[in-house]
Parts: sequence; C-alpha cells; structure tokens
Amino acid sequence: MALRLGDEAPNFTADTTEGKITFHEWLGGGWAVFFSHPKDYTPVCTTELGTVAKIMPELKKRGVKVIAISVDPIDAHKGWINDINETQKTTVNYPIIADPDKKVAQLYDMIHPNALDNMTVRSVFIIGPDKKVKLMLTYPASCGRNFDELLRVIDSLQLTAKHKVATPANWKSGEDCIITPAVNDEEAKKLFPGFKTVKPYLRYTSQPK
Ligand code: BEZ
Repeated sequence: MALRLGDEAPNFTADTTEGKITFHEWLGGGWAVFFSHPKDYTPVCTTELGTVAKIMPELKKRGVKVIAISVDPIDAHKGWINDINETQKTTVNYPIIADPDKKVAQLYDMIHPNALDNMTVRSVFIIGPDKKVKLMLTYPASCGRNFDELLRVIDSLQLTAKHKVATPANWKSGEDCIITPAVNDEEAKKLFPGFKTVKPYLRYTSQPK
C-alpha cells in the first residue's frame, strides 16, 4: 500500500556515496529530508542537488539531515558529484543512495511509470524525530523544486509539533499563526494572551517562542 502521512518511514539498507546505511539508524532521533531525483547527469537534477548543498547551513540550523536517492549506480553518483560541485559552485555534503535495483524507490512509491519510465520522480519526504512521515511532495521531472519552500514547511512542522497552532497560507517564520480549533477560547486566553478572533473558527496569535 502507498505510504501516507503519519506512517512510519520504511526502513531499508542501501549503498550511498558515504557508505552503506540502515535508514532508521541513519535517521537517529532527528528530522530528515529524503528526496529522489530522476537521473544523474541531467540538467534540472544538477541544479537541485547543488541547491540542497547550498542550503545545508539552514538545514543544520533546524537540526535536519538530508539524503538523496536515484536508481543510478554508486559510480555514476560519485562522478556526477564532481559536475554538481563544479557547475553549481558548491560541495555536495550529504549522501546519495544508489538504488539500481529500485528496491527503495518501490518501497517509497517513487516510480510513477505513466509519468516517467524506469526512473524516480521528484519525491520529497520530510520525516520527524518519531520516524513518521510528516510531508510528501511529488514533482514531475520537468520542474525543479523550490527548496526554500521545504525550509518553510520544516519551520511550520517544527513549530506545530511544539505548540497548539497551525500556520496560514504563505506563512513564513515570524508571522502570525492560527490557533488550532481543538483549543477552546478559555484555553486560548491562557496559552495565547491577546489573541485575535476574526471568526470563532479563525483566531490568530503571534508566533509562539
Ligand atoms: C533533468 O533533471 O533535467 C531531467 C531528468 C530526467 C528527465 C527529464 C529531465
């Protein structure tokens, strides 16, 4: 059955550019981004993997590890990393899984044969410290992902894991949040003094610290 939000991220062992890993051990007890790209030595993927290397300081600040995957073999990954580093002016600083037998890709439903034959689509999984899937995104091969959006989602996920708030459309860290409907006005007065009610179901508070 396809993976769904809230499911445990399936465990696997695989070869990566930084050695063999067991996924659950690699995850440890922290947040992680697991993303697939269709193919090594392709243009959009080259820009994507370079972009991820460049935002590593932002990911580290949030305590998030990153791992990439495609169905290419390890030698291809290692050769291509040189091209990524050269053309994107960066250093790939995270592991890339080699999955030529598509074992992991199938486990995570990353192959969509009616869209892209025999390759992984652009999937993203954000996995929480409890090893559960918190976000899934699927993009076609033709569209490089917006990794700033991933940082934004991570900020929202980490905030809402701690506080009884949700984040509105286009929210960015530092902006007002929404009080979740599970919190009644009585509790909201204690938790979020000075909150604003627009409608009984639409209540705003400043971002909790
Ligand atoms: C790309 O990264 O540019 C790409 C990869 C696979 C299919 C099409 C485009």
